[in-house]
Amino acid sequence: MYPLRRNRRLRTTAAIRSLVQETVVTPSDFIVPLFVVEGKGVKEEIASMPDYYRYSLDLLAKEVKELWNMGLKSVLLFVKVPDDLKDNKGTEALNSDGLMQRAIKTVKDAAPDMYVMTDVALDPYSSYGHDGIVENGKILNDATSEVLAQMSVSQAQAGADMVAPSDMMDGRILYIREALEENGFTDTGIMSYSAKYASAFYGPFRDALDSAPGFGDKKTYQMDPANRSEAIKESLMDIDEGADILMVKPGLCYLDIVRDLHNEVELPIAVYQVSGEYAMLKAAADQGWLDHDAVMMEQVTAIKRAGASLIASYFAKDVVKVIS
Ligand code: PBG
Repeated sequence: MYPLRRNRRLRTTAAIRSLVQETVVTPSDFIVPLFVVEGKGVKEEIASMPDYYRYSLDLLAKEVKELWNMGLKSVLLFVKVPDDLKDNKGTEALNSDGLMQRAIKTVKDAAPDMYVMTDVALDPYSSYGHDGIVENGKILNDATSEVLAQMSVSQAQAGADMVAPSDMMDGRILYIREALEENGFTDTGIMSYSAKYASAFYGPFRDALDSAPGFGDKKTYQMDPANRSEAIKESLMDIDEGADILMVKPGLCYLDIVRDLHNEVELPIAVYQVSGEYAMLKAAADQGWLDHDAVMMEQVTAIKRAGASLIASYFAKDVVKVIS
């Protein structure tokens, strides 16, 4: 008798399909990136990221309450720094009353249990738009890592639960971990952007923060998209240096890396579905060429299926609206 096994049997109704579903996306999978600006009553749409905004602190508080009430439990803060506060050393990043530090406090006041992650990198603070201190056209590694460590301590002092270094300097996780320990922040986590590629998908983000590099590109520190085993090497080093969570960035083009890492390490893996990925779908949906919600759900499900436990995504709210 043929066939003994009919695979379509488990697909016949919505009920049985949901019973055998392997990957389920929930609100607690998400980290919501938020862009913060100075001012009052500011909610500015980012031109290359339709429906995504920069908020001043007062409206940030409102947004964070809404996120918490939707079941979203984590935010990742980025600040747009006024030009006159930018320099080559990240001075403003260490200001205990800087925009980032105030943003952290604002989030904690608005939603005390919200898990606050913070971006650690010099590019929003850099007059050169680079993730490090520049000398003779080069990005200094160790001097940058020292500033990143101080920046992490400053953010922890302001109340950050986890710092997220997105710069790709060598050894910075160890610098940060030691600085946090020395200053008594033993519970402050580090989510390392351990496999961050030199990607063209970051364009809209750089519009959002006005942080595009003023000269050259980021290929001397971010990884070559052609490389796979290097991602494992980077990640294993970050584990040794004290990272709590690893990250692969961007998302969709790099799911092979996510699966490699998932097979190799025991740490939770985060994926950053980046600004260019967001912009592509918004644009196609706007033209009526793709079904926004269906494609979005397929994408975040694929990211989770590949092995991600956390997804930093500009779609977080849209996803929660679809699944709840
Ligand atoms: C920079 C940083 C970038 C992103 C997060 N942190 C851009 C870059 O490396 O140039 C990109 C995020 C996105 O595109 O959504 N430290």
